[in-house]
Amino acid sequence: MSIPVITIDGPSASGKGTVAERVAKVLGFHFLDSGALYRLTALSAVKQGAALDDEVRVAELAADLPATFRDGAIWLADEDVSDAIRSEAIGEGASKVAALPAVRAALLARQRAYRQAPGLVADGRDMGTVIFPDAVTKIFLTASAEARAERRYKQLIGKGNSASLTALVADMQARDARDTARLVAPLKPAPDALFLDTTSMDVESAVQAVLDHHASCKAKAS
Ligand code: DC
Repeated sequence: MSIPVITIDGPSASGKGTVAERVAKVLGFHFLDSGALYRLTALSAVKQGAALDDEVRVAELAADLPATFRDGAIWLADEDVSDAIRSEAIGEGASKVAALPAVRAALLARQRAYRQAPGLVADGRDMGTVIFPDAVTKIFLTASAEARAERRYKQLIGKGNSASLTALVADMQARDARDTARLVAPLKPAPDALFLDTTSMDVESAVQAVLDHHASCKAKAS
């Protein structure tokens, strides 16, 4: 429990994953992308032909997810699914399965097991509120829906996909609404989280803001 955890929660495409990974690298900490676990669960359900609202079946798949993070890629059994889990359809599916309490319960222990020396940076929706409530440093990282849609748009276009900015803004708002309104572990800032709006911030400044806040939380805790 004395192993330090930095939690970075926030809505989709807020840049929290990129920031969290960079902060982990600077500090030499482990990194947990909890959204990837929900995305892997959704992909696994689609592959198995399970309905995304079949709570018992999807929770079973989540509990036995043959997922590994290695060589900079994400694997489901022996298939590299790094790109497949990033599609908009799987993001949408992840948001649906993430609203099922049994699925969240099935992924709980797996997420906590990432807490290993010398420390962990965890990003998601409920890292600071549910999974690591005793984290030394908590951040709620956000940006306007338009700025987030634009970032996702550039990502998709950069990878050679076609995309519509208007559709992305609408999808983003629908997903935010579902993630915020659900009864279990809704997306909300922990009371003791630093609220970081990155709408007009670049990645470097956001990383620095997290590192500065962590230094001050650490000093206060010791
Ligand atoms: O961060 P992301 O876009 O990869 O997350 C995909 C979905 O998973 C998101 O819409 C909500 C869900 N999620 C969650 O409910 N709790 C988490 N800790 C992480 C993600």
